[in-house]
Amino acid sequence: MSHPQTLQIPFLEFMLSAPTIQDSSQKLQLEHEKSQFSCNSHKKIVPLQPNYKNVSRKAHTMSYKVTAINNRRYLGNKYRLLPFIKQVVKNNCHDIKIIADLFAGTGAVSSAFQDLQIITNDLLYSNYISNLAWFSAQPYDEDKIIQLIIAYNAVSVRADNYMSNNFADTFFSKQDCRKIGYIREDIERNFKAGKLNERERALLITSLLYAMDKIAKTCGHYDAYRKGVEFDLHLELSVPQASQNNNPNNICYNQDINTLASNVCADLVYLDPPYNSRQYCDAYHVLENVARWEKPKVFGVAKKMDRTALKSAYCTKEATQAFADLIEKINARYILLSYNNMENKGNERSNAKLADTDIMRILGKKGEVLVFEEDYKAFTTGKSKIQDNAERLFLCICNQ
Ligand SMILES: C[S@@+](CC[C@H](N)C(=O)[O-])C[C@H]1O[C@@H](n2cnc3c(N)ncnc32)[C@H](O)[C@@H]1O
Repeated sequence: MSHPQTLQIPFLEFMLSAPTIQDSSQKLQLEHEKSQFSCNSHKKIVPLQPNYKNVSRKAHTMSYKVTAINNRRYLGNKYRLLPFIKQVVKNNCHDIKIIADLFAGTGAVSSAFQDLQIITNDLLYSNYISNLAWFSAQPYDEDKIIQLIIAYNAVSVRADNYMSNNFADTFFSKQDCRKIGYIREDIERNFKAGKLNERERALLITSLLYAMDKIAKTCGHYDAYRKGVEFDLHLELSVPQASQNNNPNNICYNQDINTLASNVCADLVYLDPPYNSRQYCDAYHVLENVARWEKPKVFGVAKKMDRTALKSAYCTKEATQAFADLIEKINARYILLSYNNMENKGNERSNAKLADTDIMRILGKKGEVLVFEEDYKAFTTGKSKIQDNAERLFLCICNQ
């Protein structure tokens, strides 16, 4: 474990036990009244807690940014389609009390149904952690999160760690890598010492992942980084604005959907599988690596870890069989499937893995199927130009 050199005490002790600090003005450069707030976040001024007065004798207020669930880039993110999805549900589904979002990704779709009981699931641990942060009903100490994030943003780390040893000057600068590695290690240490609960840990990891994604030198995914570009943005964590009033029965899972499906009971199951051969574990391997924090060996130019266990059948030629197996296992009154019309429009990589005829045949065995369509400009990596891309919703009203 490395130690930062401008702040020589562990954050946990500093933040949670308020230990003696030798020379606070020299050790900790608190940034207050920062002016460079990004346009999609706003700042709050937080009065300092009494514990911290010896840390910042000069600072009576500290500022921080906040972040919302949609404030990140994610392939297939349905945030912009929420009005369409909500409208279809409102007009066609009745008495929905429990919704299961089983390929949840960022959790954007679940966030549109926060007045209901929510069940989320995703194969990636990084998404599970964010879903836990946004939707768990476990109470958390918001002041603690704010104070830690302010301190994390202020720290300057000079010693190398797993992140700087493996990722320096790739997606992030060496300095930002040191900071990412330091913060992630500190979160884990605090959690293991019982000073953060599960939700607080999830909130801090989510904040770190969102901050990394904001500055990563990528075209939106981590298959490659942009060489030779200036690292003009630097890591800055924001406070996730997560509700303290989530439904106490919300549950978040981190399983393969086909293993989980028969154990879930919901009124409406929403399915948003990957559409093509692009594996999410490849596209987001750096975020997954940091979320898991198992510090595996990484390989190749993009510094990927071994992702064998994270590969999805829905990105392969097994997709139709996996989908049939899944639909058979689902126990719900309604199944709502998002799938685009890219069956044969792009290249081998971007072509959809499920054919419309198979979708209709498989869902048709379960009940009546209605199809809704909306034009949609998909998030691409900038290389592909695809015409007439439409996003469809297949609603299956299941036979009871
Ligand atoms: C199209 S994205 C979902 C996007 C999400 N609706 C959103 O708005 O952010 C598909 C998700 O399915 C997950 N996934 C892929 N295969 C899976 C599997 N077999 N079981 C569970 N999740 C899987 C991926 O990790 C990815 O996050």
